[in-house]
Amino acid sequence: MDVPFLDLKAQHQAIKDKILPKWEEILENAAFVGGPYLDAFEKRFAEHCGADECIGVGNGTDALQLIFDALGVGHGDEVIMPANTFIATAEAVSKVGGTPVFVDVKPDTYNIDPEKIEAAITPKTKCIVPVHLYGQVADMDAVLEIGNRRGIPVVEDSAQAHLAEYKGRRAGSMGIAAGFSFYPGKNLGACGEAGAITTSDATLAASIRQLRDHGSSQKYVHQQIGYNSRLDALQAAALLVKLDHLPAWSEARRANARLYLGQLEAEEGICLPTVDRDCLPVWHLFVIQVEDRNAVQRELRDRGIATALHYPIPLHMQEAYRHLGYERGAFPVSEAYTERLLSLPMYAELTADQIHFVCDNLKELVAGKPITKGVALAG
Ligand SMILES: Cc1ncc(COP(=O)(O)O)c(C=O)c1O
Repeated sequence: MDVPFLDLKAQHQAIKDKILPKWEEILENAAFVGGPYLDAFEKRFAEHCGADECIGVGNGTDALQLIFDALGVGHGDEVIMPANTFIATAEAVSKVGGTPVFVDVKPDTYNIDPEKIEAAITPKTKCIVPVHLYGQVADMDAVLEIGNRRGIPVVEDSAQAHLAEYKGRRAGSMGIAAGFSFYPGKNLGACGEAGAITTSDATLAASIRQLRDHGSSQKYVHQQIGYNSRLDALQAAALLVKLDHLPAWSEARRANARLYLGQLEAEEGICLPTVDRDCLPVWHLFVIQVEDRNAVQRELRDRGIATALHYPIPLHMQEAYRHLGYERGAFPVSEAYTERLLSLPMYAELTADQIHFVCDNLKELVAGKPITKGVALAG
């Protein structure tokens, strides 16, 4: 049996008939930028997230960059974020001239450790960015308490957490603004590149709407130096179709996660992901830890099971950020975790048989290789 890491063909097979007529209509009308599908998608996505506004943009990295730009992050400003995230979170800060400041993650949920945030705050801190990694919302009460007390806005990187909940609140509704990615492999993925910002701050929303379109609200009249980062009509139409399915897809991911957790819970050789009791995750990724990870990954591949690493190098150890001067050992949890993490196949279309096949093989491969639970100890 082959188990791909992700199966977008299966997803599209089921909904292609709904997307294609919309694309045909867009071709007929040659209305590729803006228009009713974008308006409808923005409205519906904002509702799904519990935010007043949604602004569609070119991709998730742009979404974050536009937020930082609109918040006035610039040269000399610092933005606090976890060391274990995709580089886009940091790039978006660097591209507006700011400096990412990394902090370690919690050993259980792998989201930003609020206890480490306070020590990283300086007079230059302009934003705090919790990343809702792997589809689980960060410890938002603690992060927002710090942000409110210190007067620092909190921006959610929700690229991996569409519809994820924290104490009944949706990702994208808690900070001053949130950036979403609709990269094809995300829980809500476009048929190409796309992203969005959600916010309930009307002034910020108006500024970001201008920024995405060359700093303009009226053709050839420019209030700000902006970007060209619009979400096109073809993507908006596809996203609108997919959004209808997203609650069911999220539930299917949760059912798959339950199956994995049930199958693997007794294994001494596997450290399973921890679900925060305040969270309803959407399982963008199902990330476990094992010893001798590279060998396990190779063996699984030879048996037809594709896995991935999220992420093999924490941001402070990336060459791109060497100039920031962080040393190895700066963030022990992120560093220890990097050596052991392994992302298993996870998507709505994954079958119970495929999950059993993955688990049976995994159990065989980790037998006799117990792992210390809690990476802080191993770090
Ligand atoms: C945590 C995180 N932030 C930001 C991004 C950037 O999104 P995009 O690839 O759409 O630019 C991604 C996805 O790639 C991500 O996983």
